[in-house]
Amino acid sequence: MKTAIAQIRRLAPGFAPRIGIVLGSGLAGLVERIADPIAIPYSKLAGFPRPTVSGHSGTLVLGRVAGKPVAVLQGREHYYERGRADAMKAPVRALRALGCEILLLTNSAGGLRPWAKPGAIAMVTDHIAWAGLSPLIGERDDARFVDQTAVYDPELRRRLKAAARQAGVRLVDGIYAWFPGPQFETPAEIRAARLLGADLAGMSTVAEAILARHCGLRVAALSLVTNFGAGIGKGTLSHAETLAAARRGSSAVARLVETFVAGL
Ligand code: HPA
Repeated sequence: MKTAIAQIRRLAPGFAPRIGIVLGSGLAGLVERIADPIAIPYSKLAGFPRPTVSGHSGTLVLGRVAGKPVAVLQGREHYYERGRADAMKAPVRALRALGCEILLLTNSAGGLRPWAKPGAIAMVTDHIAWAGLSPLIGERDDARFVDQTAVYDPELRRRLKAAARQAGVRLVDGIYAWFPGPQFETPAEIRAARLLGADLAGMSTVAEAILARHCGLRVAALSLVTNFGAGIGKGTLSHAETLAAARRGSSAVARLVETFVAGL
């Protein structure tokens, strides 16, 4: 089988993206804003995952956002799908090999603070790998000891803040706790995460951020808060609710991403 890179180069000759974007649950709206798109199903790309979650199509879309060449991963595989924390290794490394320098990760998350309420958009400032997992298990050289003092690039964070002001989008800061899923958290787990300093709870993003730092990409991440964490709001949690809330917030995230990319 051809390598993913050879295959992408064959299907999009000469295309050289600088920015990679991973779209989370229900955030596919951004794809409509990509000019001259070339869509490649993950199934054509060696080593790429086969996402099994509704809201995650599994397509690499190459094209332009705000005139800048981007590579958009529409859909991710999560740890809970096959028990693999390194499921996104091939796509993240492919983006780097294509020439990307920056990776913007997006996700839906539960909010753990009054200001991280449904509909809020949060910029991830740091994370807690509560799941206790690493996508780098099995790496053999010393590069595996990745520094994580500033996983979410300070300069990109400043640019995201500026883009939010320009786009008229309210952007709060948040620390993201990575839970393994697929079950949602219990109220006791959410209380524990709050005590540890987390503001957001989710089942993705952190593994990709670690993989990206390992291969030298600069990382930024945005969470769209779709619900309050378990036990904070009224009622119960469901994936259907997450998707519906993500769709409602999707256009504000898309506007923010477009403005951010325009300024890079
Ligand atoms: N917990 C974990 N992941 C999530 C949540 C949540 O409350 N909402 C959306 N993704």
